Amino acid sequence: MSKKWKVYVTRQIPHAGIELLQKECVVLVNPYDRPLTREELLENIKDADGVLCLLTDKIDVEVFDTAKKAKGFANYAVGYDNMDVEEATKRGIPLSNTPGVLTDATADMAWALLFAVARRIVEADKFLRSGSWGGWGPMQFLGADIQGKTLGIVGAGRIGTAMALKSRGFDMQVLYHDEHKNEVMEEKLGAKQVDMDTLLKESDFISIHAPLLPSTRHMFDMQAFKKMKNSAYLINTARGPLINESELATALKSGLIAGAGLDVYEFEPKVTEDLLSLNNVVLCPHIASATTTARTNMALIAARNLLAMLKGEKAPQCINPKVYGDN
Ligand SMILES: NC(=O)c1ccc[n+]([C@@H]2O[C@H](COP(=O)([O-])OP(=O)(O)OC[C@H]3O[C@@H](n4cnc5c(N)ncnc54)[C@H](O)[C@@H]3O)[C@@H](O)[C@H]2O)c1
Repeated sequence: MSKKWKVYVTRQIPHAGIELLQKECVVLVNPYDRPLTREELLENIKDADGVLCLLTDKIDVEVFDTAKKAKGFANYAVGYDNMDVEEATKRGIPLSNTPGVLTDATADMAWALLFAVARRIVEADKFLRSGSWGGWGPMQFLGADIQGKTLGIVGAGRIGTAMALKSRGFDMQVLYHDEHKNEVMEEKLGAKQVDMDTLLKESDFISIHAPLLPSTRHMFDMQAFKKMKNSAYLINTARGPLINESELATALKSGLIAGAGLDVYEFEPKVTEDLLSLNNVVLCPHIASATTTARTNMALIAARNLLAMLKGEKAPQCINPKVYGDN
């Protein structure tokens, strides 16, 4: 069977996705173990019929103008703040994402960060490896309790809900802030929907799961940190710019809040210098969805979406269904 379409994949992804595309397309993949430069991206998508792209690729007017033949762009992520959805919709170009398959992996990571910072795991590990440990001590590495505390969820969608449901083992009170009522969390956990100020003031742990939008940028700044308890911890596995990172560093240094666990950064891959020297923050390099299963399923979903777009069919995880005349 001759292959009708040429597609470009902007970074090596699990092979299952590439293999699926190869059945019907000529597939070119970024050969480097790094994101493409802007020039490389534009050069490679020039004559592509479809593009499988990443959250590190800015998919904007210039890209749409360059990839004139592209029948769609399939993002390898659930977040799509890297894409100009309005412009694509105006041009009738479908875009898609990979919701659902990374929900548990991401919520698990938020819990891993919560435990790591509350129980000072990274700091203690470094101490032991340094050869400084002289034996058990009653005052060593005292941390925070988790059992029975209050968990505040900002953005009670798929991942926020999974994060909240996993708190059952720790008998926590759950508060959430979202414009939508979350019946699952209310029925299963007795969770309470509250305004942002209440969540900030009453939570012992706050976990961020809202998307990056103009309205959520810098949702966590000095004003918010001042409302939090001095003993509270902030966990972010959503998107970096939801936090004003330099103000977070100040809040952590001055003891305004107790600690933070971060997977994402305001200016990725740069991390605010001050954070690097603080012990009360645990830093991971944007790996919340990095389980073999989640990343393989993301590759398959992105490939299926792209194939549907190429065939002129509705992409199953389309994020701008208006292009198909839907609302
Ligand atoms: N670190 C990672 O690798 C990683 C992995 C997966 C997802 N993410 C991020 O997590 C986000 C959430 O993913 P999801 O699948 O749960 O999305 P989702 O759409 O199911 O949930 C997002 C929720 O946030 C709510 N929301 C929107 N604006 C809000 C605001 N101002 N205040 C409070 N809530 C608000 C929405 O109503 C929705 O309920 C994604 O947008 C993505 O950026 C990061």
